[in-house]
Amino acid sequence: MVPELSIRPLEIVDFSPFLEIQREALLQSPEVFGSDYEWFESLSILSKEQRYEKYINFPYQFILGAFTQEGELVGMIGFTSESQPKIRHKGQVWGLFVRPQFRGKGLATLLIQSVLDTAHSVLDIEQVQLAVSTQNEASYGLYLRLGFTVFGTELHAMKIDSSYVDEYHMVKFLK
Ligand SMILES: CC(C)(COP(=O)(O)OP(=O)(O)OC[C@H]1O[C@@H](n2cnc3c(N)ncnc32)[C@H](O)[C@@H]1OP(=O)(O)O)[C@@H](O)C(=O)NCCC(=O)NCCS
Repeated sequence: MVPELSIRPLEIVDFSPFLEIQREALLQSPEVFGSDYEWFESLSILSKEQRYEKYINFPYQFILGAFTQEGELVGMIGFTSESQPKIRHKGQVWGLFVRPQFRGKGLATLLIQSVLDTAHSVLDIEQVQLAVSTQNEASYGLYLRLGFTVFGTELHAMKIDSSYVDEYHMVKFLK
């Protein structure tokens, strides 16, 4: 179903392609991501790099990227968890994005399954949570099909100019 693509954790050398896909995601889908395009662009390159280094502190924080055979980054998903004993059995997924020309081929499904497999096998994570806009029917349906359930609804989770976006908080138990 998915063409010749490989999935692997992003590393320091992937910083520039990450910035590119992040820009595209924030520009195209402002209503689905917590980060704001103008805010992100206003950060210094050093600050962007420092944030990126925190995101790729494998295995506690990581970003899985989907790459074409030519090495183009065409999809991503982030994962984060805490080392504190009482909450280290939980993780969060963020930043799922697939470049438009690669959509509808099962890539998001593969990225989510890969993130769940990695979190479970490497960190023994027991549950993964995420937040999705109540208006984002494609993603909401996808998460439901992959076994996530809603455990809460946050009203006015984001404010974009004078409009509010509500979010479902979802969880999938891995054991
Ligand atoms: C949501 C997104 C990641 C899906 O990526 P994708 O690679 O096309 O997803 P898949 O091919 O794995 O499709 C998964 C399912 O969702 C459905 N789907 C995907 N995009 C859809 C859309 N725009 N409208 C309706 N259904 C859609 C597919 O039909 C498929 O259904 P199936 O399992 O019954 O066949 C992609 O559209 C995207 O990047 N959107 C913008 C960012 C976003 O919304 N991110 C999620 C934030 S929570």
